Amino acid sequence: MSDSSPILTVSNLSAGYGAGRMLADVSFALRRGEILCLVGESGCGKSTLLRAVMGTVPGLEILSGAIELGGQNLLALPRRERERICVNTFGLVSQSPGASFNPIRSYRAQFIEALRSHGKYDRAAFDGLVSAAFAKLGLADWQRILASCPYEMSGGMNQRIALALVLLLEQDILLADEPTSALDATIQLQVAQELARLRDVSGMAQIIVTHNLALAQLLADHIGVMYAGRLVEMGTSAQVLGDPRHAYTRALIAAIPSLRGDMPTGLAGAPPLGGPDACGCEFAPRCPLRAAACAKKAYALIDTGGGHMVACDGGAA
Ligand SMILES: Nc1ncnc2c1ncn2[C@@H]1O[C@H](COP(=O)(O)OP(=O)(O)OP(=O)(O)O)[C@@H](O)[C@H]1O
Ligand SMILES: [Mg+2]
Repeated sequence: MSDSSPILTVSNLSAGYGAGRMLADVSFALRRGEILCLVGESGCGKSTLLRAVMGTVPGLEILSGAIELGGQNLLALPRRERERICVNTFGLVSQSPGASFNPIRSYRAQFIEALRSHGKYDRAAFDGLVSAAFAKLGLADWQRILASCPYEMSGGMNQRIALALVLLLEQDILLADEPTSALDATIQLQVAQELARLRDVSGMAQIIVTHNLALAQLLADHIGVMYAGRLVEMGTSAQVLGDPRHAYTRALIAAIPSLRGDMPTGLAGAPPLGGPDACGCEFAPRCPLRAAACAKKAYALIDTGGGHMVACDGGAA
């Protein structure tokens, strides 16, 4: 149910921790009711991109670019004002499930505090709303959970409880960092269905980081493939997974194990430890299609047709 005007537009965003640049020239737009999945190997900058959009994470500095919400560039606002808008707009489910809550305060206290700070606490309705949100995510025994503390729960429980809070806060945009990584397959499916329902019924836009390409295929309207702090391919789920253009995307897809027992093709080497280079393709050392010119190639996403953007198609287009 996405309409055409973006609610979030990120343009040429670069960011880094201290002196090092870890994110470079990232641009995308997110519409209401749209799910963007970010994929890529460990260390490619997926969490850093979510943190940069959220904007309230200490230690990560935005170096350049723009983040526009409803046409307003958040980066041009005073820090406090920006934080206020971000906290009200973005629901965040962290990669490390424990990071969403204080480990030693009860969920009940933390849920009430979060709802109050968003002006959404209704004492009479609280129990009914919480039990309904928990049920949607397969969380039984809501009273016992509310009375317990996060340190008592498994990672998978904490992830779902963090998502339940997002359901209750009804923010416009969900930023979810591997929200199903600690869940078994059946609960993963239930959570994925709830995320899809949130998009379809509430129109909640979502950026979901995942290593699970099958989940991305199931959920994503658009997929962004990240490598060394850059988006190297971006398009609809059908474009990126059905007609991958970048050698890196092809390698990621070829690395998925199948239940048939075929041995997947591995991708030798690892992403660079540092951030993106000023010039040249960071994937070149691992790329089967590399040529001498790759060391000097300037980064640019090119539209290969129908909005299917790719940084390099190995000369195929
Ligand atoms: N707090 C930090 N301080 C300094 N460097 C960091 C920090 N967090 C991440 N990095 C570096 O930034 C780069 C991108 O890391 P990031 O966590 O965004 O990757 P990721 O794609 O989310 O990986 P994963 O799939 O393992 O979660 C890595 O080189 C990482 O070492
Ligand atoms: Mg991460």
